[in-house]
Amino acid sequence: MIQVLFVCLGNICRSPLAEGIFKKLVREAGLEQVIDSDSAGTSRWHIDEPPDTRSIQIAENNNVHLDHLGKQIIRRDLDKFDYILAMDNENLENILSLQHPGQDHKAKIMMMRDFDDQRSGTDIPDPYYGGQNGFQHVFDLLEESLSNFLDFLIRDHHLKS
Ligand code: 4NP
Repeated sequence: MIQVLFVCLGNICRSPLAEGIFKKLVREAGLEQVIDSDSAGTSRWHIDEPPDTRSIQIAENNNVHLDHLGKQIIRRDLDKFDYILAMDNENLENILSLQHPGQDHKAKIMMMRDFDDQRSGTDIPDPYYGGQNGFQHVFDLLEESLSNFLDFLIRDHHLKS
C-alpha cells in the first residue's frame, strides 16, 4: 500500500479537503486497494474537530465527501507514510523540523504545488480568515495538483488504473 499524508496548519480547511478530493480521484482510478491517504495539521489546535464548514460546503458542491477528524502530525509519521505533501512553506518547515538530524526517514516530503500544472512549488493559500471564494480557489488548486500527483504515482510505481 502506498501511504500519502496531506499536511496544513489546522487540519480543518486545506488538508482534509485535499484528502477528500484525492480519495475520490483514487477511487475513480480503481486504485483504492493500492493508495491510501490521510491528513494532519502541524498545530494541535483542532484535534478531534471535524473540517471547517466552508470546506465541507465546497466539498459537497463538488460531490466530495469529507470524513476526517483533526489530528497533529508526529515524528513517527515520517516513517509511516511514503509521501507527505505540505500545503505551504511554513508547513514544510515545520514538517522538516520533526526530522532527527542525520537520520533518514521513509517519507518523501514535498509541496502540494510541486504538482500544479506549472510545477510552481508555491503555497496553497490559507483560506481560514477569508470568505467562501477563497475555499473555491483552494479547491481548484488542489484538484489540479492532486490529479497530477496521482498521475505521478501511477507512473512512478507502474500502477495500472
Ligand atoms: P488550515 O487552515 O491550515 O488549512 O486547516 C487553518 C485552520 C485554522 C487556523 C488557521 C488555518 N487557526 O488559526 O485556527
